[in-house]
Amino acid sequence: MCGIVAYVGHREACPLVIKGLKRLEYRGYDSAGVALMNGQGLKVYKKKGKVVALEHELEGKDTHSTIGMGHTRWATHGEPNDVNAHPHYSFHKKLAIIHNGIIENYAAIKQALLKKGHTFSSETDTEVLGQFIEDIWENNGGTLEEAVRLALQEVVGAYAIVIMNEADPTQLIAARKGSPLVIGVGENEFFLASDATPIVEYTKDVIYLNDYEIAVIKEGVLKVVTLDNATTTPYVHKVELELEAIEKGGFDHFMLKEIFEQPRSIADSMRGRVRADEGTLQLGGLRDYLDKLAKSKRIVIIGCGTSWHAGLVAEYIFEELARIPVEVEYASEFRYRNPIIKEGDIVIAISQSGETADTLAAIELAKSKGATIFGVCNVVGSSIARATHAGAFTHAGPEIGVASTKAFTAQVTVLTLMALAAAKRKGTISDSLFRQLLAELESIPAKVEKVLQAADKIKEIAYIFTYARNFIYLGRGLNFPVALEGALKLKEISYIHAEGYPAAEMKHGPIALIDEDMPVVVIATKDSSYEKVVSNIQEVKARKGRVIAITTEGDTNLPGIVDFTIEIPKVHEMLMPLVSVVPLQLLAYDIAVMRGRNVDQPRNLAKSVTVE
Ligand code: F6R
Repeated sequence: MCGIVAYVGHREACPLVIKGLKRLEYRGYDSAGVALMNGQGLKVYKKKGKVVALEHELEGKDTHSTIGMGHTRWATHGEPNDVNAHPHYSFHKKLAIIHNGIIENYAAIKQALLKKGHTFSSETDTEVLGQFIEDIWENNGGTLEEAVRLALQEVVGAYAIVIMNEADPTQLIAARKGSPLVIGVGENEFFLASDATPIVEYTKDVIYLNDYEIAVIKEGVLKVVTLDNATTTPYVHKVELELEAIEKGGFDHFMLKEIFEQPRSIADSMRGRVRADEGTLQLGGLRDYLDKLAKSKRIVIIGCGTSWHAGLVAEYIFEELARIPVEVEYASEFRYRNPIIKEGDIVIAISQSGETADTLAAIELAKSKGATIFGVCNVVGSSIARATHAGAFTHAGPEIGVASTKAFTAQVTVLTLMALAAAKRKGTISDSLFRQLLAELESIPAKVEKVLQAADKIKEIAYIFTYARNFIYLGRGLNFPVALEGALKLKEISYIHAEGYPAAEMKHGPIALIDEDMPVVVIATKDSSYEKVVSNIQEVKARKGRVIAITTEGDTNLPGIVDFTIEIPKVHEMLMPLVSVVPLQLLAYDIAVMRGRNVDQPRNLAKSVTVE
């Protein structure tokens, strides 16, 4: 949600910032802007629309500057337009500010400034913060750093900010609370960004700024202080991210690349952890906590969107294999209830980005109630990864398409490994089933590869349904969360209304929607509920619904009943979602492309939801 990039050093800042904004565009894309300084004061350029619109705006302008900052916006306060785009000048234009997050008490601060005669050109909370900082700076007479510190002590809400000021072309001041900010440390140069993707091209040395910290870069020196003015020594991490991982690599869209990456990303999420030949499973990040997990009385899984769906899959697997009761909650609901957390409860937080504000707040609440929290995150160094006691990274590689695909399968893989490890430790799984599931897991990448070979057939089916207005997705057991996920993918990127249901629930209401115009996607793989799902399909067909069935290879029964089949290889029931979700991802992708949608940046969405 909103992307931030800033640079100070010896390079040309503008092209570097623009390139960085393009890498971060998945975080928000309703407007973009840059601030530069080239001897004629602080210059701000901004434009509604994507970064490319800003690039056009900059054509013919003198953009020479070795300091600069840029922002790509996902609107919270104020509609997307040129004026509300960041950066924002302060009242006397002494400084410019970019911001990711929400200043909750901005209205009160704005009132106080209005009384002092300030006027505002935008509707944003960010402009209010910039004016507030400048006001303190002017009235207290101290340094800008002090003014930032004092202002942030008054602020309620979440922020990652970067400030440039007219008086010092070597100075960038940044701060964070609740929204991510990474500092890249180069040779006499510094980079700031919402995540490491704009930075890795230049340096692999990064510092993850902590909440309540302020970074002051001045004359080539970085200092980090807390809001209470205590100096801290930042830890420099080495990021492992490679440039190829954040480029499209010949695919039309990041989403398609990420769908096709799944054989590799699923294998990566098991790498070094699973040895089927030896019958061993290691989860390094949980080594010291495995007993606690195995002995837990209850597991509460929290997450949002696709991550919540991965949690629903995990519920079946943990309960079946480890016999531990599981509850799966939307983090956004959990955080505002007074949830009961008892001794011996484990909370597992699932998040691709590791920055989702609701999940982070739910973790803090669970922690305050004494829970042990495990994280299942994709982004190393992210806020959620750092807020949890232990966990396992998904190692899916950067996911840039806004609709989550490879992160889901990696999350399900890692959660399956956690359930298997707990079951083994607890003794609730037989040695033969344990070994069988490890071997089956190792075979999943090849099975996903096989599904991907059906991409052309899926495209033909997508073509037929391109102009459908509604879709229903049905599945039972472990395929029920897959139905939810398939429906979510379709709505997110094609804007077609779609609902997922447990197949048996259909007759309790949704069946009223079925007619010859209603496409129904049914995951009807050969598993313990196959016969029942076939009956549900018959109910749809009796009402003339058009059925697209995901079937198991060799099923000769369903092709005679349904309108279209997409075959997937035979998979152990427990691992089915890892394979059955893939055709649904492709179907959603193809329909969205055929409808002319921007699949990587669907309207109104942002990849990393850092506001509640
Ligand atoms: C769906 C999607 C979202 C995210 C949700 C949680 O395609 O991408 O529903 O799954 O916003 O995000 P993370 O996993 O980053 O916490």
